[in-house]
Amino acid sequence: MPRRNTSSANVTLQNAKRAKKDEFYTQLADIENELRHYHRARFQGKVVYCNCDDPCESKFVEYFVRNFNALGLKELIATVFTGSPVSGTQLPLFDTETNDQIGTGEAHVLRVKRVKNSDLDDVGSFAELLKKRLRKAKKLNGTGDFRSPECVALLKEADIVVTNPPFSLFREYVAQLVEYRKKFLIIGNKNAITYKDVFVLIKNNTLWTGYRNFSGGMWFISDYEGKYEKTVNGVKIINVPAIWLTNLDHSKRHERLQLYKNYTAEAYPQYDNYDAIEVSKTAEIPCDYYGAMGVPITFLDKYNPEQFEILGIDRYIEGNQTPNKRFMISGTEIYARIIIKRKDTTQ
Ligand SMILES: C[S@@+](CC[C@H](N)C(=O)[O-])C[C@H]1O[C@@H](n2cnc3c(N)ncnc32)[C@H](O)[C@@H]1O
Repeated sequence: MPRRNTSSANVTLQNAKRAKKDEFYTQLADIENELRHYHRARFQGKVVYCNCDDPCESKFVEYFVRNFNALGLKELIATVFTGSPVSGTQLPLFDTETNDQIGTGEAHVLRVKRVKNSDLDDVGSFAELLKKRLRKAKKLNGTGDFRSPECVALLKEADIVVTNPPFSLFREYVAQLVEYRKKFLIIGNKNAITYKDVFVLIKNNTLWTGYRNFSGGMWFISDYEGKYEKTVNGVKIINVPAIWLTNLDHSKRHERLQLYKNYTAEAYPQYDNYDAIEVSKTAEIPCDYYGAMGVPITFLDKYNPEQFEILGIDRYIEGNQTPNKRFMISGTEIYARIIIKRKDTTQ
């Protein structure tokens, strides 16, 4: 019996683990609810690229095809990744006439430059449209990995990238968008905010949270290995602690947080290992304090860069006397904190 190559077995195992983390799909309603908060002019004449999106599975593709004319898009590009063990098997669209699965099962690029409104009357006609377009879709040489040279070439053509990328590759994914100076609206895990290299982008106002509230998780379509929490209207869904991240402006980022509490040393204790006060609830940021304050991560939901400045995050901020550790109060470590300062002196 041939011996199994352990390194290739490890790669298979790693891929399966990744797939577990990565194979869940965004619901159309969540995409619509977020996208409506961005000015349409931002999309007018632009090339949108969904680079982790099998058109047969991705509601991002459906959203941009359906709204192609309303947004005035120049082009929609979507690439299919076939490197995942479940690629092409999760949410296939079906040809309503033949009941055949639509899609090539191969890595390919879909390019949409024109959409007739009459082609999109219902779900069936969307599937028909997709089927026609996919017949002409160009095969990719590789697996459709967003880092591959052919996908990077497509990225260079794009103005805005909108997708839910693999969480397991989130750091690399964001770094690539920043490197190529792309506008983007993507979904990430809440934890990603606390990654050193992602947080620095938030601190520098290179990236911020989207419009949707931070609280609660988002419900995604998931059926990977039967991993789902409930079924709604026949669709299996799972809750993931996810948020939108973007570098597109939206109105919430300019709303001022109304401050009403007064500072007292008793209510706002100092940290043991860093020179700042603890503000355990964002709503209770004191209106008359102008030094450094530690606030929960959920502060980002209320962050207006005209009102506040972000100085850093607990573990990595210079001046933390216990580097790489969280802040402490009377010897007890507390939850993750972002350190901020008021930018203005008006209450
Ligand atoms: C969280 S899922 C979201 C899928 C889709 N964007 C959506 O929102 O419904 C992430 C997708 O990225 C794909 N993926 C994983 N690694 C990838 C890579 N290196 N390049 C491109 N896509 C990848 C996965 O197969 C998976 O379909």
